[in-house]
Amino acid sequence: MIRLHLPTIAAACALAALPLSAAADELDPTGAWSAYSGGQAPLPPMGWNSWNAFYHDVDEEKVIASAQVIVDSGLADAGYRYINIDDGWWLKRDADTGRMVIRTATFPSAATGSDRTSFRPLTDRLHAMGLKAGIYSDIGRNSCGQTFGHGNANNPAGTLAEREVGLYDHIEQDIALYFGEWGFDYIKVDGCGIRGMGADNPNVQKGIYREMAPLIDFDSIAKTDVPAVKDLFAQVGQALVRHNPDGDFLYSLCIWGSANVRSWAKEYGNISRTSEDIAPYWGRMLHNLDSASRRALYAQPGNWNDPDMLFVGTGDFDSDHPAEARSHFSLWAMLNAPLIIGYDLRKATPEQLAILGNRDLIALNQDPAGNQAVLAYDTEDVQFFVKTLADGTKAVALFNRTATPIPVTLTADHLKYAADGEIALTDLWSGEASSFTGEQEFTLAPHETRVFRAAGTRALPGGMYLSEMPGRINVAEEGIDFPEPDPMIHRAIVPWQNTRSNGERPRYTGWGGARADSTPYGQMLRIADREFLTGIGVLANSRLEVRGDGFRRFSAMVGRDDSGSDDGSRVRFEVYGDGKLLGASEWMGLAEPAKPLSVDTGGAAIVELVVRGDGKATRPVPVTWGDAALLP
Ligand code: GAL
Repeated sequence: MIRLHLPTIAAACALAALPLSAAADELDPTGAWSAYSGGQAPLPPMGWNSWNAFYHDVDEEKVIASAQVIVDSGLADAGYRYINIDDGWWLKRDADTGRMVIRTATFPSAATGSDRTSFRPLTDRLHAMGLKAGIYSDIGRNSCGQTFGHGNANNPAGTLAEREVGLYDHIEQDIALYFGEWGFDYIKVDGCGIRGMGADNPNVQKGIYREMAPLIDFDSIAKTDVPAVKDLFAQVGQALVRHNPDGDFLYSLCIWGSANVRSWAKEYGNISRTSEDIAPYWGRMLHNLDSASRRALYAQPGNWNDPDMLFVGTGDFDSDHPAEARSHFSLWAMLNAPLIIGYDLRKATPEQLAILGNRDLIALNQDPAGNQAVLAYDTEDVQFFVKTLADGTKAVALFNRTATPIPVTLTADHLKYAADGEIALTDLWSGEASSFTGEQEFTLAPHETRVFRAAGTRALPGGMYLSEMPGRINVAEEGIDFPEPDPMIHRAIVPWQNTRSNGERPRYTGWGGARADSTPYGQMLRIADREFLTGIGVLANSRLEVRGDGFRRFSAMVGRDDSGSDDGSRVRFEVYGDGKLLGASEWMGLAEPAKPLSVDTGGAAIVELVVRGDGKATRPVPVTWGDAALLP
């Protein structure tokens, strides 16, 4: 999407006297919300996808049977809507017309009698069931099954050209077909064809597939052509708008956290994968969880982090592992992850359906404020996630990552509630009600997640800390010059490679991104020895867009964070309301005490928080908007 940089004349004049920083123009206020607002994702999508249940062995009967269970079991009423066909549906691309041909052996209703196959009968049937339909493609010329050699039985057939089933060079034609003619409502766009079809691919060497110089190098951001990747995904987005005049589409990006997608997906589509595939193993669930859990500021209504689909029902999350299944579901609900079931629902037990259908958990995921839970306590053993709901109350998940019982203490501080007020809890798995004042102990069973609704006296009466409302924040510029992999993500065995390597490496760029209640590198927020329990941690040369409607004031204690290096550089904090400069700090160096920065926003719709560096920094400069809040 094209970003406008149109500072008002007043703001431009105010800034004219400032020294230039490295990214000066990108820091200019726009007075606008620049995250993607196309498609239909005001809430995280819910539904079912064929992949984790059937892999390439997908067929029409299985899709319809799962859809029927969704309707009959009440899951549709609980919000599950999208029925998504993943890899394995395609037969080939017609050599003369370029039109995609469906594998009618597995999708018989697609054989329409003419020489043109159509998914319309299937999407009509799903729509008649009150559901929505999703399709799958790849941004390259070839699919994942072709690229990585799996799923041979249902891989596309025909000549080399006919087997090029991906969107590359066919974006307009395919999107028109899938949405205009076939009536789909959702597309997942994978990226295997731009990742793995280089000269070293054995099937390219054998002449089975055409070589395509990879745009994505999964292990090297420097060797990834980020602008080219973005351009392809932008083209799909534009075609989706053209072929969905009613705007009823959902655009799912699937490049598994590569190509620095963390920083730009929110401008291009509705959901974006944060990691490689989930697998039905505990360690893999932790891996995918961690790839999204510290990125609360990178998700808002319209744009969600996607740690991949649910695996409730299988392996470590099967009916012998109800604690693990509940944890997986609870955590995805708290993170505002898409709730996409990946199970053969014909086999689902009532207990499994009850987990997937827990209305209280679903309500957290579907809360209209769209605040992804923020980590209030973070270790490799135990994590507390806190989510602020639209009505101002909270949900808290206490998560035991380990296989042993652990005693934990939840405090009022974790919830940003007053220590002397009573806090009412409702356990969303047992329904049990309780209350406490100050702090409360629990013992978490192995792999258990306790999830509560919590109501207490807010520590900040009237106002809201910014870190309580990540759904109102868009990280428009994050100040990262050199994207680095995030080392905080649990490094699990990759099941499809097993231990045929010397271990998993940090992979997904995102280290140093803006954080709620933490510095960008995971430290406690601290300015000149003063700690802040709450605030936004970000790097200098950043710009945050904050939805300010409903509030009249912004206030924070600002300064360079103590976690940065003593390079003599200075930063300046600026606050804008609808594009106009409302207030700014002095230029501030490391170890200078936090300064108050409080402005009247006049109810501005978009408050922008800009931190400029003086261009002299030799290392990234963490800066802290301590206690940052919007007030009445
Ligand atoms: C992967 C993707 C999976 C699934 C698979 C199909 O790239 O991450 O979710 O779609 O391809 O082959």
